Parts: sequence; structure tokens; C-alpha cells
Amino acid sequence: MENKKNNNNLLLPVYGSKWDIHPEPNNKIPQNSMRSDEAYQMIYDEMNLQGNTNLNLATFVTTWMEPAAEKLMTLGSRYNLIDEDEYPRLKTIEDRIIKMEAELFNAPKTLKPTGVTTVGSSEAIILGLLAHKWTWRKKRQEAGLDYYKPNIIFGADVHTCWEKFARYFDVEIKIIPMKPGKYTIDANDVKPLLDENTIAVGAIVGTTFTGQVDDVKSINDMLIQYEKETGRYIPIHVDAASGGFVLPFIMPEFEWDFRLEHVRSINVSNHKFGLVYAGMGSLVFKDHSDLPQELPFEINYLGGTMSNYSLNFSKSSSNLLAQYYNFLRYGKDGYHHIVNAVMQNAHYLEKRLIDSGYFEILTDTKFLPIVVVKLKNEYTFTAYDLSMSLKESGWIIPAYSLPKNSEEIVVLRMVVKENFTHTFAQKLLTDIDKTIKYLMREPVKIKKDVKVSITKPHGVC
Ligand SMILES: Cc1ncc(COP(=O)(O)O)c(C=O)c1O
Repeated sequence: MENKKNNNNLLLPVYGSKWDIHPEPNNKIPQNSMRSDEAYQMIYDEMNLQGNTNLNLATFVTTWMEPAAEKLMTLGSRYNLIDEDEYPRLKTIEDRIIKMEAELFNAPKTLKPTGVTTVGSSEAIILGLLAHKWTWRKKRQEAGLDYYKPNIIFGADVHTCWEKFARYFDVEIKIIPMKPGKYTIDANDVKPLLDENTIAVGAIVGTTFTGQVDDVKSINDMLIQYEKETGRYIPIHVDAASGGFVLPFIMPEFEWDFRLEHVRSINVSNHKFGLVYAGMGSLVFKDHSDLPQELPFEINYLGGTMSNYSLNFSKSSSNLLAQYYNFLRYGKDGYHHIVNAVMQNAHYLEKRLIDSGYFEILTDTKFLPIVVVKLKNEYTFTAYDLSMSLKESGWIIPAYSLPKNSEEIVVLRMVVKENFTHTFAQKLLTDIDKTIKYLMREPVKIKKDVKVSITKPHGVC
């Protein structure tokens, strides 16, 4: 400790300081300074006391980027994205990104798509649905009708952020329950729930639970017919958090996007298959008229006047630059290559898991590189035990029960990402085999309350 006061402090090694033999600073800012390399190492080491990002198959979120993109992220972290007047190029880049995404989602050329980048899909979904609520309310006001009971229709296959929107913005939820074997929604599920107070229908392109896709086309066609019969126009918001950067590259003909008349807004998580690190989503409106002009705030205190539609205010430009880099660097061809490789690895993993005889596939890996399996037989261990035990080999693979009405089904979900290569798949398969054999010999029972905390799917995005 005394050595710290020594003039030769700079010559001291990184390890060996008082912080290496006493608890780290944790409840007040330390009084004394420490060397930069010491502080860096202390924090760096602490990061290693947790899951390995490369072995984390629980998350959809990107865990690897090219070094050039990382450099741009460091550069971008100096620029507050909100300071449009000082940094006008950021706004230009954001607009380009929204336009590129609108084109990717087949927005008609005759319209003027608009949108914003957000912290993630949750913010994008909340802002998108808010816009639909305002449009619905305005129409009702203009028609002299009451506007106190808005409702929204979606399936139990949605991510929690949909319920968050409804709760925070006082909108009734009309939820379509799942049934064993049917984990998505279609027109027949939606139609009986529609009424004059429905602000929008939600459809998911790549559900969090199974990676499947709601039947957006059938819902769209039914809504066209519904409008003819009732005069009510009900928009669809598509949550393409995971599917938005996958389907355009593997199934360009598959219609789920702005090609469908009633799809008026789409969100996507750039930090999923847009291939940037955590902290970015996008909300794209099919046309600027889909965003009521009363919603964006005009602000003038940063110099100049600018329009802002967001829940948050200041944020770094890191992800924005990284996403723009990926679009330029990879192009559509590059995304196509990456997504194809990822799908192939997902299919390989899925096939080998089925061939092992231990698993049954819950849904096939048709739309997204997500492998969802359940144990085929009653074993002396559960999927929760397997998930927990695989952590000993470093793998993070969540086990969770499906939404209401199918909650007796417990699955294991593996999200295959670009850095999960064939070699990783083989190692995982070996570890699964080894772990199952061990559990058969030495059954481990995890207490029920522990199961919930380690596997809650809403905590895993
Ligand atoms: C379908 C879906 N929607 C929304 C979200 C929330 O996304 P974010 O974490 O970007 O807010 C997720 C997260 O996985 C998701 O899978």
C-alpha cells in the first residue's frame, strides 16, 4: 500500500496493489486515484467473471463485430446523437439507414417512408403503437365518437414490450392464447376480436419463444375484407425484431412486410441480425402520414430547430455508425452470405440434436436460425437441469416454459449467430452428449424457484 505513494508508482506492476488483496471499490468513489492500466485491468478482469459471450446462445444480440466497426463505435461514442444541429451528418446517416431499411422491407416507391432509430425493438414498438393509438383517436375525435377504450390485438407469442406498451399507455390488450402445437396467430384468431376501438393488430416475424412467424398475409387479407364490410381501417404493426434482417435474405418472396397493404409500421432490432452490438433498433413507418405530426417534439435549445420522436433523449452514435458501416461493408450480398451460413449451422445443429435421440424438435428452423427442442422422453433430469449443467462447459442455453396454455412444455432454445461456426456446433453437441450421460448417472434436481430465475424467457431477448 505504501508503495502507492512512492514516486516510482508508474513503474509498479499492474497486479500487486491494495485492490488485489482487498475488496474492490464498491459503495463509494475511492478517495485516491489509481493508474489507468490498473483500473482498466480491474474492470477487464471483472468482465471475465461471467458468461463467455461467444458461448451465449441465449441471446439474439450480436456478440462479435469487425474491428473496423468497433473503431467506428469508439468514434461514435463521442457524438451525442441528439445534437443534430452540431452534428448534422449523424441525422443524414440516420435518415439513410431508415431509407435503406424501408427499401429492404419493400416500401412502395410511391410513398414516403419515415422512421427513427431507437435503443432497441422495445422502444421502437412502443413508439410505433403510440402512433397508431394517436391516429385511431384522431379519427374517432373527428367523427364525434368516444375515444376512451382503445384496444390492441396480439398473440401470447409477443415479447413483454408489447404488454409494456399497453400497460404504460392505457390500452386494453386482447390477447390470443397459444395452443399446444400452435404458437403463432393467423386471421381466424384475430377476426373475432376486432372492433371499432382496435388501434392495431400486432404480428410477430420471428417470435422470441419459437422463432416462428405469425401469418401476417392472412391477417392483412382479412383486414382488407373487414374494411370493406365495416369501413374500419385497422393497421398492422409487424415486430420483425429478429426476422427483419433474416427473411429478406433467405426468403425474399415471402410476404410479411410493406408489400402487404395493412402493414403500416415495422420494427427491427439492428443489434440482432443487423449485426451490431446491443443498443439499437429501428422503427419504420410505411409513409410519413403514418406518424401523426403532433407526436414528434420540435426542440430548439440545442441550436437550430429539430424534430424528435423518441422516449429517450441523449444517446451515443456508436451503433448508428456501426450499422451504417455494416450496410456499406457487407451490402445485401454480404448479409445474404452471413445469414445463409448461420441458417446452415442452425440446420446442422438441429439435425444432429434430433439424431441424438434425446430431443424432439418443437418447431423447424425454417424462418430463423433458432433451434428450439424439448426432451423426447421422461428422464431423471429436466431441461432446466440440462441448461444449468451445460453452464459448467461454458454454454449459456436457456430452458423455459412456453406461454400460457402451453406452459407445460419446457424447451431449450439456441440462437445461432454468425460467430457460432461449425466447430462450435460440434463442440456443443459433444458437450450436450457428455452432460446428458452424466445427468443420467447423477441426476440433479434444481429447485422450482431457481428454475424460474435462471430461465425466464422475458429476460432473454
Ligand atoms: C420478437 C421480439 N420483439 C421485441 C424484442 C425486444 O427487443 P429489444 O431487446 O431490442 O428491445 C425481442 C427481444 O428478443 C423480440 O424477440
